[in-house]
Amino acid sequence: MKILVLAGSPKGETSVTMQYVRYLEKRFKGDSFDVFHVVPQIRKLVNDIGFFDGLVGRMVDADLVLWSFPLYFFIVHSGYKRLIELLYERNARSRLQGKPAAVLTTSIHFHDSTAITYMRGVLEDLGMPYADCHTPGMRDLMDKNKRENLVRFFENLKLTVSGDDFLSPVNTPLPEKPAPFAAADLGGTIRTEGRIVVLTDTLEGNTGALVESFCSAFADKPPVYTLKDMGMKGPCLGCLKCGPANHCSYEGKDGYIGFFMDKLATVDMLVFAGELKDRYLSAEWKQFFDRSFFSTHHQKPLWGKRFAILLSGAYSRMPALQEFLTCYPEQWQGHLAGVVTDETGSNQQIAASLGALARTLVRSQETGYYRSASFAGIAGIRLFRDEVFDELRVVFKADHKIYRKHGIYDFPHRNPIKRMIMTMADLITRIPFIQKGMFGNMPANMIGEYKKILDGVE
Ligand SMILES: Cc1cc2nc3c(=O)[nH]c(=O)nc-3n(C[C@H](O)[C@H](O)[C@H](O)COP(=O)(O)O)c2cc1C
Repeated sequence: MKILVLAGSPKGETSVTMQYVRYLEKRFKGDSFDVFHVVPQIRKLVNDIGFFDGLVGRMVDADLVLWSFPLYFFIVHSGYKRLIELLYERNARSRLQGKPAAVLTTSIHFHDSTAITYMRGVLEDLGMPYADCHTPGMRDLMDKNKRENLVRFFENLKLTVSGDDFLSPVNTPLPEKPAPFAAADLGGTIRTEGRIVVLTDTLEGNTGALVESFCSAFADKPPVYTLKDMGMKGPCLGCLKCGPANHCSYEGKDGYIGFFMDKLATVDMLVFAGELKDRYLSAEWKQFFDRSFFSTHHQKPLWGKRFAILLSGAYSRMPALQEFLTCYPEQWQGHLAGVVTDETGSNQQIAASLGALARTLVRSQETGYYRSASFAGIAGIRLFRDEVFDELRVVFKADHKIYRKHGIYDFPHRNPIKRMIMTMADLITRIPFIQKGMFGNMPANMIGEYKKILDGVE
């Protein structure tokens, strides 16, 4: 079988993910693996149409396109994301229609499911039958059983492709662009002591009008910046120089870190705006998020911030983006005031939602309200807690330090009295007649402690 591997790491051949690909190549000697490293070539793909067409030609010639990438900030690296945008912009669907595709991604499993959701949507939009995905942890290749499972994945994949065993699509096609939205004046009545900043990828079109309208709700207009103002000179290199003490390779070479720390980390409320491309925010936004890894994503600069999001595009058709926007503020122990899009509703209705969002955002700030974190936020921080403590602290020393300082290492907890009580309680409730009594009246027993709290309310 002829496999075209679209490799998605900025590190090219020295990437962890590529070791999985090369392992498969060694195990499946009868198949040919043609590898294209997308991220190092992305500028050429953007600027040289012939080069881009050549890549699409290689995809067309293959029996299977293997999208093989490391997880970068919930989905793919910004350069890989840009290729996906190009495939949409340059209407590659007409050539790729019917070409089988699968996904192989390595990570520490933080939102690998989100990346798969995203990729499946993309592949379905491109008309590429989705064969399967495999999402090994980055060190799984060290484990014999997991290596064999990788081999099983590939065997199954080949059978799926040769047998045409593709399942029906799970995504509804994307609609046309939303109707034009005209900026509205929202009265300039909201006052706040809190500091707000708006960051957008564009001030043009509907996104620009959403930003302008949102800002018009405030007596003192919040400052608005575009991602260009950050002066990013390039994407995240994946070099992990940030690990020991949060020093990025770009330090002193471009404006990103200075802007991030001066303009974003110092405010209370962050408003992000953007035009949706394929099934996510733009590659430029993706570059912003990838580069924020310089403070290795789990640290302090954005903790406790409140977020509002303004989007132009079919957000309701983008479950991966919805997951990201739910989890991102929760990761920072922050608060998402809400998301407004231009997707549906009249101009007046959209404008009214923007006013509501501005008020909701400021109200949460003034009342000190934080929505409780959900599965995404809680599970994410626990995953990092365990990974960093277990092995990653050798590289991510800065995280280890801050996790210790801020009590992220909260399990196993060191409260000896609680541990003793729980051990005793576990033993006692194994005694049959006590267990019978306990489970015989479980609902009432469960709320015993709550009753004390409620009874204490005047
Ligand atoms: C900037 C950056 C962002 C990352 N984001 C995620 C993530 O969201 N989820 C995850 O599980 N791992 C994430 N990782 C870890 C990588 O996915 C993982 O180390 C992968 O195996 C690296 O593969 P590579 O060497 O092929 O680039 C991230 C790593 C970097 C450098």
